[in-house]
Amino acid sequence: MTAVTYELIKTDKKSKARRGRVHTPHGTIETPVFMPVGTAATVKAMRPDEIKEMGAEIILSNTYHLYLRPGHQIVKAAGGLHKFMNWDRAILTDSGGFQVFSLGDLRKITEEGVEFRSHIDGSKHMLSPEKSMEVQNALGSDIMMAFDECAPYPADRSYVKKSLERTTRWLARCKEAHKNTEQQSLFGIMQGGMYQDLRYQSAMEIVEMDLPGYAIGGLSVGEPKELMYEVLDYCVEYLPGNKPRYLMGVGSPDYLFEGVERGVDMFDCVLPTRIARNGTAMTSMGKVVIKNAAYEKDFTALDPECDCYTCRNYSKAYLRHLFKANEILSSMLLTNHNLHFLVNLMKGIRKAIEEDRFAEYKRDFYNKYGI
Ligand code: GUN
Ligand code: ZN
Repeated sequence: MTAVTYELIKTDKKSKARRGRVHTPHGTIETPVFMPVGTAATVKAMRPDEIKEMGAEIILSNTYHLYLRPGHQIVKAAGGLHKFMNWDRAILTDSGGFQVFSLGDLRKITEEGVEFRSHIDGSKHMLSPEKSMEVQNALGSDIMMAFDECAPYPADRSYVKKSLERTTRWLARCKEAHKNTEQQSLFGIMQGGMYQDLRYQSAMEIVEMDLPGYAIGGLSVGEPKELMYEVLDYCVEYLPGNKPRYLMGVGSPDYLFEGVERGVDMFDCVLPTRIARNGTAMTSMGKVVIKNAAYEKDFTALDPECDCYTCRNYSKAYLRHLFKANEILSSMLLTNHNLHFLVNLMKGIRKAIEEDRFAEYKRDFYNKYGI
């Protein structure tokens, strides 16, 4: 028995796009799906009821951040992450691997795990496959990610090979250490950089472990987008069709379309929430940088085609004013819109796959968005 199962509903005739469902102990997720990121047990500037209202069925949170602050034992004592943050739908937690590798000089990798210094107070810690599973078991997320190493780009072949082989050994240790298989599902992560044979090797090694889902890691790490699409093409081929496929850290509209077209089911990215706080909105006509003088007296909605709370009630001129005045409401309203936009985009993509018009839907979106 595994807690998470995948149901394939339909495959597109002209591409690898697929319409499915991921069943979890905290509800069903219609796929392809975009997962909003709530790093520190909060999707920044948003209340859980707002995220629910826009139709999000799963959010992502982070082992690294919650381990350091407030500490996984506190979250466990609160009754788990769902209860602690008042989110009763599904939660996926990343393992901390990716976050500690981003610390640069503050970390050291060994076979045991990664030694690092906290970005908050400089204190010394160790994250290992066992520790990551202990933390994720305490958090109680529905989907737990394996503790992996994401190789940088560019990286030479010999390093990437060593790194993916260690990631496989770490995955075996994660599987062994995972204590709550009835309620929580462990997903493996494929690595292998931009090398086709190494991606194949990584896939064969992790698929052998028969997990309920698989992620493609190590992409969108600074490589040109054409290269990412090329690598993604064969990565998906190497993963089983009866399990969900998750492309980690990807969330711009073009990457979502290209990922779906290649057979990816799940995506996450800080992009919509981060750019919202910096004053940028994604709209059906492309990006809007709200501070631009052009919007000073523009009393029309941010996106005339959007029916989110922000677009129903406020003008670009007002949003520009809030942003320029550094008002908290600016982050709240723009985040609400951007998440609504992506959640709705995925809803449109799912419907298009169901109705055999994914290619047309993609073409029309690209033309209007300016891709
Ligand atoms: N987020 C984006 N890319 C990655 C990756 O390769 N590994 C993990 N654990 N998280 C990610
Ligand atoms: Zn809107």
